[in-house]
Amino acid sequence: MARILSGMRPTGKLHLGHLHGALHNWISLTSEYECFYFAADWHALTSEYEDTSTIAPHTRDMVIDWLAAGLDPEKCTIFVQSQVKAHTELALIFGMITPLPWLLKNPSFKDQQENILEKDLNTFGFLGYPVLQAADILIYRAHGVPVGEDQSAHVELSRAIGKRFNHIFGEVFPLPKEILTPTPRVPGTDGRKMSKSYGNAVLLSDPPDLVSQKIRTMVTDPARQRRTDPGDPDICPVFDLHRVYSDEETKDWVRKGCATAGIGCLDCKKPLIEAINQELAPIQERRAELEADETLVDRILEAGNAKARQEAEATMAEVRKVLQFG
Ligand code: TRP
Ligand code: SF4
Repeated sequence: MARILSGMRPTGKLHLGHLHGALHNWISLTSEYECFYFAADWHALTSEYEDTSTIAPHTRDMVIDWLAAGLDPEKCTIFVQSQVKAHTELALIFGMITPLPWLLKNPSFKDQQENILEKDLNTFGFLGYPVLQAADILIYRAHGVPVGEDQSAHVELSRAIGKRFNHIFGEVFPLPKEILTPTPRVPGTDGRKMSKSYGNAVLLSDPPDLVSQKIRTMVTDPARQRRTDPGDPDICPVFDLHRVYSDEETKDWVRKGCATAGIGCLDCKKPLIEAINQELAPIQERRAELEADETLVDRILEAGNAKARQEAEATMAEVRKVLQFG
């Protein structure tokens, strides 16, 4: 079975964007591939180094949401990056062979330095982020890496680093292929992409009344000032959610009702609120079970960490051998 690896930076509780953008895909890949999924807590350190207090709780919350959403630890390996120390050893070695220009031209390095002004990201660690990511991927000799488009450049760099290593030291690493995840547009309550940092997210752990409140106050086509004004679903973020949640019949009902002002925006949102709450109910039930058992999550992670360590160590034994480091 081919091997898949993917990771997420721990941002705490997950939202609908994570569920439809990544998690559903991660879950379905477990039946076709040998999958490794991890919380990239060292990656969080690249931007959170001044206050590290949130990283561990965010890691735990994120993993609970993975499990609650249906990622089955019997069918994949779930682990925490910082619990597999060998990632750092491989990252150090990769750092020795990675030409600086590869990192300096990385688009997300420049982007984030320019856009995240409240943090000093002018560090060695932040520049070297893709080197650590290459180690994350290659240490498991993964064949495929399911990611969103924003990670393409990083996966490409991982291939380049793996290729360079193989060229210098001999064929140790298969070159990982990017598996681009088809992601539906999941807008947040303000119409922008759903994101925790925008404060526009519906969390997987939001109770039904909060989901209802968030969707009821979600922005709509601004042309619909009054109930009698017709609207255009194609420019309305609420309709993007219908594309994710509703069947053809409901979408037709919205299209007609919106364009003719036959329905109001609250009418339009009602089936969405129901669909989201229906989707979240079993997730929240599982979250409650996971939280009720004090050691369950720890035990799952301990098993995953041990399996990951074993795989990583096997690769490192070969790496040390070809480097003639005993
Ligand atoms: N950089 C990824 C992100 O920000 C997280 C990540 C770290 C990752 N290492 C990885 C993803 C390896 C895939 C494979 O989302
Ligand atoms: Fe948007 Fe629905 Fe209101 Fe039309 S009726 S503007 S699609 S929320």
